[in-house]
Amino acid sequence: MTINLDRPDLIVAVIGAGAMGRGIAQVCAQAGLSTLLFDARDGAVAEAFAAVDKGLDGQVAKGRMSADDKAGVMRRLKPMASLADAASAGLVIEAIVEDLAVKRDLFRTLEKHLAADAVIATNTSSLSVTEIAAGCDRPQRVGGLHFFNPPPVMKLVEVIGGLRSDPNLVAALLAFSRRIGKQPIVATDTPGFVVNHAGRAYGPEALRIVGQGIASPGDVDVLMKEAAGFRMGPFELLDLVGGDVTHAVMESIYDRYYGEPMYQPSAQMAVRVAGGLLGRKTGRGFYDYAAASAASAPLLSVAPQPRPASVWIADEDGGGELASLLNAAGISANVGGAPGAQPVYFVTPLGEDCTGAALRLKLDPARTVAVDRLGRFTGRYTVMKNPLTTPAAFGAAVAALQATGAPVTAINDSTGFVVQRLLAMIVNVGCRIAELRVAAPTDIDSGVELGLNYPKGPLAFGDFLGPARVLAVLDAMQAATHDPKYRATAWLRRRAMLGVSLYTPD
Ligand SMILES: NC(=O)c1ccc[n+]([C@@H]2O[C@H](COP(=O)([O-])OP(=O)(O)OC[C@H]3O[C@@H](n4cnc5c(N)ncnc54)[C@H](O)[C@@H]3O)[C@@H](O)[C@H]2O)c1
Repeated sequence: MTINLDRPDLIVAVIGAGAMGRGIAQVCAQAGLSTLLFDARDGAVAEAFAAVDKGLDGQVAKGRMSADDKAGVMRRLKPMASLADAASAGLVIEAIVEDLAVKRDLFRTLEKHLAADAVIATNTSSLSVTEIAAGCDRPQRVGGLHFFNPPPVMKLVEVIGGLRSDPNLVAALLAFSRRIGKQPIVATDTPGFVVNHAGRAYGPEALRIVGQGIASPGDVDVLMKEAAGFRMGPFELLDLVGGDVTHAVMESIYDRYYGEPMYQPSAQMAVRVAGGLLGRKTGRGFYDYAAASAASAPLLSVAPQPRPASVWIADEDGGGELASLLNAAGISANVGGAPGAQPVYFVTPLGEDCTGAALRLKLDPARTVAVDRLGRFTGRYTVMKNPLTTPAAFGAAVAALQATGAPVTAINDSTGFVVQRLLAMIVNVGCRIAELRVAAPTDIDSGVELGLNYPKGPLAFGDFLGPARVLAVLDAMQAATHDPKYRATAWLRRRAMLGVSLYTPD
């Protein structure tokens, strides 16, 4: 059977007029398509049209849309009195409550009214497209079109074929997504598809870092923004999205991958959700939005020390570059050789903690301080102490790095600092998505850039940092912690060993 979503007179019916449905209907009408909207709740469609009307008025006022164009959009949006009105639609997009039984029930009712060649697409975030379709008489006509919130703004759409979808359905939904001005990627029917799966590294690992007393939420956010270039820190993001929503996604992905350790949710987060510390929507999350300035103080306060005249630096990854930066700031930095009377011994470990690096290099732990050099970032430095580092050595290390002109965040001992851990997890989860054939490497990266707003996709981040160095971080973290969540994926290990890009196909 042919699938034709290209025809000029295609009518789209959107079911569910909530946050997503109204936005999806607006996008379709803006693309020139006659668009019907239905909701089970009386008055919901009128509310949705009023909200779209108001939003478009704002666009007209800003000169982004003409009044005529706006009138055209509103003319193309039509309410449905009942599901029987979907009979004329060639494509139905479902955006109702996230409940398998309710969605299956709706799909069965829709099939009674629709033409045999009509397509039904679900906007589900966490259910299986195949499972929803299994309740249908024509599962071959059912697929997934996963929009992002708010649909008129977010360019990304994930297109998902179910296991029983017609072989041409994905291509037809891709073309339709482009027709309504979106940038689609293709994902297989797997938990979280691409974007909600890829997002399981940033928040959960940040929660572990704070839970282990390594840094404060504010420390982590500032580092990820100022050192690694993220637009939002993980705790700002958790507060924006809402702890309840994020925690539910974490639990869903973990359960649906049958307890894969990489996706372990945070026990601390469960308590915060139970306590109503959900973030912006309740006024308090990791930040207090009722306070004059929503700040999270640094975990450690370092007693100021004079700038040291000289320091010793281990001759390891990034040590030479650190020496150049310090020498340029007027601090004499000796790289390698026998450490002497210098007040600070800098180490630059990958995935190893400061304790481990000091003992491996046979350094006096009291003077040993670690600096994160994985990304060669210079916007902000992380310095990390071990339990025996003296306040004098730690303060001198901070003063030395501040002399280069960049701010410094001081943290407790951690396998992989903060930025290393987060980036290595993001890359490894991205590699797992590639390994599980959820999507093509380029689609994984564009999904993450467009859907999560990271500065780079996970595979591009891995290539930028160097696959072998990311592998070294994960291997050292796993060796030190014996925790299987840090085991490197075969996708990453093979490419790191071969010295090739993470985009390299099998
Ligand atoms: N909110 C998001 O960020 C987001 C992002 C992507 C996907 N989604 C998915 O989109 C879907 C809708 O989410 P939302 O945030 O718009 O929810 P919402 O609660 O804002 O809206 C759901 C709407 O569906 C209506 N509804 C419920 N059962 C119905 C039925 N049987 N028939 C017709 N209408 C019915 C409700 O009255 C409500 O107006 C869910 O599957 C969700 O997982 C949500």
